[in-house]
Amino acid sequence: MAQPYYLSGTLAPVPDEIDAHDLAVTGELPAELTGRYFRNGPNPRHGEDPGHWFTGHGMLHGVRLRDGRAEWYRNRWVRTKKFTDDAPFVGESGVDLAAVTANTHVVRHSGRILALVENGFPYEVTPELDTVGPVDFGGRLTTAMTAHPKEDPVTGELHFFGYGFFPPYLTYHRLSAAGELVESRRIDVPGSTMMHDFAVTEHHLLWLDLPMVFRLERGGMPYAWEDDYGARIGVTPRAGGPTRWFEVDPCYVFHVGNAWEDADGRIVLNAARYTRDRFTALWGRIGGAEDPAVSAAASGAAALHRWTLDPASGAVKEEALDDRGVEFPTFNESLLGRRSRYLYTVAGDGVVKYDQRDGDSQVRRTGGDTGEAVFVPAEGATGEDDGWLLSVVTRGDASELLVLDARDLSDVASVRLPRRVPAGFHGSWLGEE
Ligand SMILES: [Fe+2]
Repeated sequence: MAQPYYLSGTLAPVPDEIDAHDLAVTGELPAELTGRYFRNGPNPRHGEDPGHWFTGHGMLHGVRLRDGRAEWYRNRWVRTKKFTDDAPFVGESGVDLAAVTANTHVVRHSGRILALVENGFPYEVTPELDTVGPVDFGGRLTTAMTAHPKEDPVTGELHFFGYGFFPPYLTYHRLSAAGELVESRRIDVPGSTMMHDFAVTEHHLLWLDLPMVFRLERGGMPYAWEDDYGARIGVTPRAGGPTRWFEVDPCYVFHVGNAWEDADGRIVLNAARYTRDRFTALWGRIGGAEDPAVSAAASGAAALHRWTLDPASGAVKEEALDDRGVEFPTFNESLLGRRSRYLYTVAGDGVVKYDQRDGDSQVRRTGGDTGEAVFVPAEGATGEDDGWLLSVVTRGDASELLVLDARDLSDVASVRLPRRVPAGFHGSWLGEE
């Protein structure tokens, strides 16, 4: 019998953990790219079918670069309680926030490297990708933690949230620059929805309360689109105060680009937006639906979209910025929450760079399945796009870590990886501290 979509092709898991040294490099790796590129994604054990792309055990892939050389590649599963003990997420004593896959993102904050998944605690890992264990910030974290926390480039604080099946459905959290959980605040929402990402501006937190609604009785992956839920974006002052909700056209968003406040106090949010039909088709496919019509319809994906929210008038302006299918928006995070000009996305077999000032875009085809392009600023950068984009590109059974010049998407270098890296989710560049 044919394997489901999420166990086939570029998504097919690898069976084991390996180490490789002195990787072949084409082109010239900039010496200042000294550090580690880590990337996370689902990788069920050999023979295991988790039933959905999103529920496979997290596996980290790491590439160590130093002084123009690619010293090593290694891949490791995150040793969560779910991985090692097959512990149930929902057991007799309730939800176990450590019994998760940790399969979505990997970030570093206050010297700790955290593997993240949105339904549970982060797992700390070492720079060699060994698992340390779950993190609850000294017992202060009592909800899950999103896989998309936001580090404020000015204060160094890490803003994040947790959402769950039971009230309070949504809780905002803030870590100090030193990694101490200093604030947890309940945000009132009408129900439990799948909230994958959020946005932060200089003064506000933005919530995406969209119609992928949780119902326990659904079982399996218990979220589905419900027209009656509506869709709204919430704006909460970072400093405290009530959340103001703006009704928007129903849609789904996995990933926001950047958000900021303009000179008139309006809030601008860019994101990769799915229409209802495109989202439900995609959801069916990654959940293993066997209907070929569903798969075909899912070839349409998210498109770049902008919402402008005016707190003074309550007005919402929506703009489709492009009609190409793109995902995994990234940008120069030294401008997180502030107006930024460039946004990088991936479009299947290439990278699309948007100039949000002039409305231009540039495309770089790679000829392979192209993973999220992580922006790394150059030392002494003089422009917002002065830096590199790192992306895992896969053609057949061969994967490379591609390094592009973010200014013009030209080739800088390519590191040949010792094996195929399954298409996954998110990664980070961890420079030397
Ligand atoms: Fe994500």
